[in-house]
Amino acid sequence: MSEVHIFATEAELSDTAARLVLAEAQNAVARHGRCLIALSGGGTPIGMFQQLSQSPYADRMPWTQTHVFWGDERLVPPDDSGSNYGQADQLLLRHVPIPPANIHRVKGELDEATAVADYTAQLQQLAEPGRAWPHFDLAVMGLGSDGHTASLFPGPIPAAENSAPVLAVTADYDGRPAQRVTLTPLVFNDARHLLFLVTGEKKAAAVTAVLHDAYQPQTWPAQRVLLGNGRVTWLLDKAAAAQLPPSNTKT
Ligand code: 6PG
Repeated sequence: MSEVHIFATEAELSDTAARLVLAEAQNAVARHGRCLIALSGGGTPIGMFQQLSQSPYADRMPWTQTHVFWGDERLVPPDDSGSNYGQADQLLLRHVPIPPANIHRVKGELDEATAVADYTAQLQQLAEPGRAWPHFDLAVMGLGSDGHTASLFPGPIPAAENSAPVLAVTADYDGRPAQRVTLTPLVFNDARHLLFLVTGEKKAAAVTAVLHDAYQPQTWPAQRVLLGNGRVTWLLDKAAAAQLPPSNTKT
């Protein structure tokens, strides 16, 4: 079941996202001593990263017990302007006291098979006993105007999506690096909470279709991660929410 919240400005959306990250981190640490977060790339989470890097969020986050992963990464070196890790590092991670050992990045500088194997092993290290990947407490998700989320793109679904936690994919979107590594729906559908951040009129049709159209996983890939038992929260700005039915448009 998805919960939808609509904001007048991106600043309000980012502030709410930061508040939610803090609350989930505190809850997770209180419940099981650690918090596992998967971050997204793209421009939409920039405001949230900036908020989290500052007071009051930066001071209250349980950084020592927080582990950060990425829902997807582009296969570029960490200092490349296209690196999702690089963006989060510049805007957030280097400004807060998170232990370096708690940062679990996809090694975009490696070839894709090695990067997948390495990230799969990093997931396994934090998995609960007997499992190959951990339950994430929170995964921050973006949405493309084509309905992709993380690096799950429209088109035929790779068979490995149903058996492996990590996959290499190639997809062109918005001039961004095409070689990517992504967590699969197996992992996202095991998360305790997915937090979608979506802004802009270009995404209005996609967000409406993902939430309200029949299940068409090849057309609207974000539907593939809405099959678990976890909570799903959508934070939208007014432009992204413009085509939602009235039942969804309460702010
Ligand atoms: C990436 C992403 C991707 C992103 C969407 C939305 O690495 O490109 O994680 O799934 O979230 O493309 O991107 P914007 O926020 O820039 O619209």
